[in-house]
This record gives sequence, structure tokens and C-alpha cells, in this order.
Amino acid sequence: MAQHEIIQFLRSAQGYISGEEISRQLKISRAAIWKHMQSLRDIGYEIEAVPHLGYRLASSPDKLIADEILHGLTTKTFGRNIIAHDSVDSTMDEAFHLGMDGAVEGTIICAETQTKGRGRLGRSWMSPKGKGIYFSLILRPRLSPNQMPQLTLMAAVSIAQAIKKNVGVAVAIKWPNDLLIDGKKVAGILTELRAEVDQMKFVVLGVGINVNSSASQLIETATSLKTSSGNTIDRVELLQEVLSHLERWYQSIHKGDFSKVLAVWRELSCTLHQRVRVTDGYGAIEGVAVDLDHDGALLIKQDDGKIIRRLAGDVIQLR
Ligand code: BTN
Repeated sequence: MAQHEIIQFLRSAQGYISGEEISRQLKISRAAIWKHMQSLRDIGYEIEAVPHLGYRLASSPDKLIADEILHGLTTKTFGRNIIAHDSVDSTMDEAFHLGMDGAVEGTIICAETQTKGRGRLGRSWMSPKGKGIYFSLILRPRLSPNQMPQLTLMAAVSIAQAIKKNVGVAVAIKWPNDLLIDGKKVAGILTELRAEVDQMKFVVLGVGINVNSSASQLIETATSLKTSSGNTIDRVELLQEVLSHLERWYQSIHKGDFSKVLAVWRELSCTLHQRVRVTDGYGAIEGVAVDLDHDGALLIKQDDGKIIRRLAGDVIQLR
């Protein structure tokens, strides 16, 4: 706790703050302060110490840690409870355990790297250390399980808008959950739920964004925001932006405004009006993706004119 307060002090100080002042305010010894400063430096904070002047925060680490994420976060609940790891198997697994233990809605589990990061359909998610945003968000939606696709679509819209605002790069949404730049994948969403009868217990929304990764750290079909924009991106600021958009759209679907999500989704989509092949557990269908249904299902017009709905599946966009 003291460590967290020391960071707050250093941030709010205009310049240097004396060890004496910190010691008086936090009621801890100068020796204890010195130790905290050392641990903060170990985390990556650059703290200058000048005799007779005191301490000054020169820079903060490029890390997804609670103190950084909370500083400047504008949400009410999303990301207010943070479990941050250096390395985990998958943030999804940890989120499931915490969800079962009653973790509050809005809790996020994030990691600098994942050793078993996973995507949809059993695929793996490359998680180069310190280069991306990898997190799982625990949701306790007051929605029925068949409204679940709404969460994936609102997440896609949120991430695309956050990237546009924060990085200035236009991202297209490929149904249902891929975010693409120039046809290459830059982010993905994995929604998993724990439901009972017809009520959702909780949902884990997993988000992976390739932020500062280099081409060699990703698969051929993927790209990163740094590659596309030419700039190194502040991961903390982008995560804050994503959380803020997610919270706003999440509130909006609870007010029954899913049609607003659909409207933005349609604008950002690169799937609509394309010839597609959609594969799911029942087989493959081919046709033109003409629209999204009111519940987020993809409507595919086959060559015989028949319109087929698909709520889930894997899409290949054909030329
Ligand atoms: C996909 O595109 O298929 C979904 C990718 C989701 C990746 C994220 S990274 C954080 C979270 N933990 C995981 O293991 N997967 C999701």
C-alpha cells in the first residue's frame, strides 16, 4: 500500500519531494521509504534522488501494472480491480478461477506474456513479452445466453474505436471477432461463458492486441499497431481507452441499445457485401454476407437466393 501511495506522491509533486515530507505524510521511516524506492526502481520506475532536494519521478515503466493502469483510468468499474502478471499460461484460465470465486464485474487479469495464450477454435495466440495487450475481463451480464454474440460484437466495435482514437489507425472488423489492418489480424476477441439453465453466471471476455510487436514475433497473417502506424504505442493508454469504450458499449447494450452497436459494426465491417464461406459444427455454406441480423447473426445470401443465418463460425472471405 505504501508503495502505491509513494507513487501517488511522486506523481503529484511538481518536481522534487523530500524524503522527510513523504515520511511525515505516510508515517513511515526514511529507511522504509528508501526500500520502497528501490523496489519501485526494480519494477522499472526511474526515480532520481538528489541530496537536499529529495526524490523525483523521471519516468514510469512501460508495463501493464495496476498503478499505471489506474492512473488516468476514467471507467467506473471496468479495470478497477486488476490482477497483473508478468507471465501466465492464459489470462482466460485465471479469469475463470477468479470468476468462480466471485470476483467482481469489471475485474481484469492481464499479463506481459502468456505461455499458452489461446484464440478461438483451439488456435494459439502469440503473446510476445511486453509487446502486446493481453487481458481477460470478467463480466456478469444481465443478459440471456443467446445474447452472448452481442458481447463479442460490442467488444469488436469498442476495440476498433479505441485504436482509431488512440493510435489514429483505421481497423476493420471481420465477423465475428477479428480486427484487421490491411487484411492482417491486429487484435482478437475470445468470449467464454459459464451459464446455468438460461442464465449467464459470468462471462470472460479475452482481448489480445498486437501493439508493439515486430513482424518476426507474429505469424505471417498478423500485424501490429507499431508496424502499421510506424510509432511505438503506449500500451497503458491504449488499454485505458479500450476499457472505457468497452464499459460504455456494455452499458448501452444493457439499456437495450444493441442496434447502435450494430450500426457502428456495419460501418467498420470488412465482411459485409463480400463473398464468404462460413464453417461451423454443421458444415460449410457459401454466399454473400448481406447483413447482420438484429441479434448479431451473420446473414448469408446463397447463390439460390436463400438467406441463411449463422450466429457463430469461422469466416473465409473469398474474392
Ligand atoms: C482470437 O482471435 O481467436 C481470439 C484471441 C484472444 C486472445 C486473448 S489474449 C488474452 C486472452 N488470453 C488468452 O489466452 N486469449 C485471450
